[in-house]
Formats: sequence, C-alpha cells, structure tokens
Amino acid sequence: MIQETKAKNIHWHKAAVTKKDRHEHNQHKSCTIWFTGLSGSGKSTLANAVAQRLHDLDVGSYVLDGDNIRHGLNKDLGFSPEDRKENIRRIGEVAKLFVDAGTVVLTAFISPYKEDRQQVRDLLEPDEFIEIYTKCALDECEKRDPKGLYKKARKGEIPEFTGINAPYEEPDQPELVIETDQNTVAQSVDKIIALLKERAIIR
Ligand code: PPS
Repeated sequence: MIQETKAKNIHWHKAAVTKKDRHEHNQHKSCTIWFTGLSGSGKSTLANAVAQRLHDLDVGSYVLDGDNIRHGLNKDLGFSPEDRKENIRRIGEVAKLFVDAGTVVLTAFISPYKEDRQQVRDLLEPDEFIEIYTKCALDECEKRDPKGLYKKARKGEIPEFTGINAPYEEPDQPELVIETDQNTVAQSVDKIIALLKERAIIR
C-alpha cells in the first residue's frame, strides 16, 4: 500500500550533484544489498564482512543493522507486524538516500514479510536492489543463539519472536541465496562480490 504524503505545499528540489556524477567520481555504482533471514542466520556477520571487503577495494559502503537502528532512528518501534512494517519502510527510504549518495548500502534486517521487502524493491531502480536470503535452518539458528534470545523466546519471555511465535516468509526469487550453515563467511563474501562485479556495480 502506497502511503499518501501528509504534508501539503511541499516541492521537490533537484540536486546539483546527481547520482550519476557521484558514480563517475567514485568509479563504482551504488545499490542496496538487502539481507533477509532469521535471527542468528548471519545477516550482520555477512553484511559487515562484505563492507570490509568493499572498503579494501576502495568502494564506499555502509551497514544499516536492525539492532543498531532500533537504538536510534527506530527506537519508537517494537516487533508487532505494524511496527516491523514501519521499520522496513523507513529503512527502505534511508537505503534509497544512501544509494542516491553513491554508496553501496548493506542492510541487515530480519524483514520477515514479503510485502514489506517488495515495497523497498519498488522504491529503488530494478538494478539497485539485491535481495540476499541468508538461509539457515531454525534449529541451527537456535543452536547458535548468539544473544540467548531463542532460549528466552522458548521460555515465553519474548512475545512475537521470529521463527518461534512470529512468522518468517521466505523470499520467492531473491538475487542470491546463501546457505550460511554450508558456506564459510569468506566463501559467501566471494559470491556477493562476484555478483556485484557481474552487475557492473563495482569493477
Ligand atoms: S524486523 O523484523 O526486520 O523488523 O527486525 P529487525 O529490525 O531486523 O530486528 C531484529 C533484531 O532484534 C532483536 N529482537 C528480535 N528479533 C525478532 N523478533 C523479536 N521479537 C525480537 N526481539 C528482539 C534481535 O537481536 C534481532 O537481531 P538479529 O540480528 O536478527 O538476531
């Protein structure tokens, strides 16, 4: 559902420096690499490992991470379906700004609903959105449990915990599926960097 703009009498200002200018200056294009998957499936680990590799390649990147963003910009949101929707909507808009600024933005949000992810895809140009599903079986995520959240959720201490008592909708056609229980971080990073080169986002 497209939200209507509440404010009236607002006008769009055209930027003097365009996205294309920035791409030429940076010698790489920009895009959103959207990681989606269960808690503990490896979204943040991979996003940060790719950001490190891009940094080493002189490519400007930035990681937006669910846990971190919920400490600031989205501190007013919880985990109800409506709040998750608003979380993802705002992050989609922020990601779009980063892409406009010429940056490769890596987002690490569970983003459990297909519709919300599609809304972000629709916000960007077709070649600017790369959805990566960090696929990992629930029992493996639960075994990893890096923050002890699954344990708490199983004890009934966290309402609406994804995979336990809240849904996760798998993507139908992500650009890449990474089975994080079958690839090392380095192998996964190689796959993502190869895709960025194939799409001529980086050289
Ligand atoms: S969402 O669904 O996209 O809006 O969630 P996100 O912003 O990515 O935040 C997920 C992180 O919040 C912690 N956490 C929870 N996750 C899922 N369900 C519930 N109820 C919940 N409560 C807290 C958890 O640390 C998630 O981080 P990751 O990195 O995914 O483990």
